Amino acid sequence: MELKDVIFKRRSIRKFKNKEVPKETLIDIVKHALLAPSGRNSRPVELVIVTDKELIAKIQSTRPGAFGFLQTAPVCIVVTANKESSTWQEDASIVATYIQLLAVDYGLASCWGHAYNRSHEGKAVDIEIKNLVRIPENYNVLCVIGLGYPDEVKEPHNLTEVEERKIHWERW
Ligand SMILES: Cc1cc2nc3c(=O)[nH]c(=O)nc-3n(C[C@H](O)[C@H](O)[C@H](O)COP(=O)(O)O)c2cc1C
Repeated sequence: MELKDVIFKRRSIRKFKNKEVPKETLIDIVKHALLAPSGRNSRPVELVIVTDKELIAKIQSTRPGAFGFLQTAPVCIVVTANKESSTWQEDASIVATYIQLLAVDYGLASCWGHAYNRSHEGKAVDIEIKNLVRIPENYNVLCVIGLGYPDEVKEPHNLTEVEERKIHWERW
């Protein structure tokens, strides 16, 4: 698919079909995503692919409202990065975005669920997820990406949504 079409088609999908995503597809998506640029080429991002329904349900319970899409998602990718990198957050965000774009190319859909700096009932969501999937101490969790075959239809984006006033030339 042409990149521009992928960008238009990428929407946050929060309802997924009860259909497994082939392991090879998941490996292909994460491998390509890990080619994303990173500060000083430090490549601090590591991913945990979760397909175990019980574990996905536990992750969902760390932020039940905002992670509602994990109720039907057959896959949850936990996006983590080594916090010793000064650009870990940026690097992890780019990888997460690549995953979302690659998903579209495979006829899949996704939704970003934010974990870092979020809390639920007084508990830090990123730490809860870290414990659930046994992420080492020196890694931070930025977000989780719910992934699967879409079970809802959303209009693709289009360029009329873009506010021209947000584009500045030479000076603001
Ligand atoms: C940094 C970030 C955090 C987000 N956190 C959540 C979240 O916790 N739960 C959720 O359902 N969607 C989340 N989203 C998805 C946004 O709500 C969504 O991208 C936005 O409404 C635009 O819709 P679209 O993705 O269909 O273009 C997040 C997106 C980003 C980029």
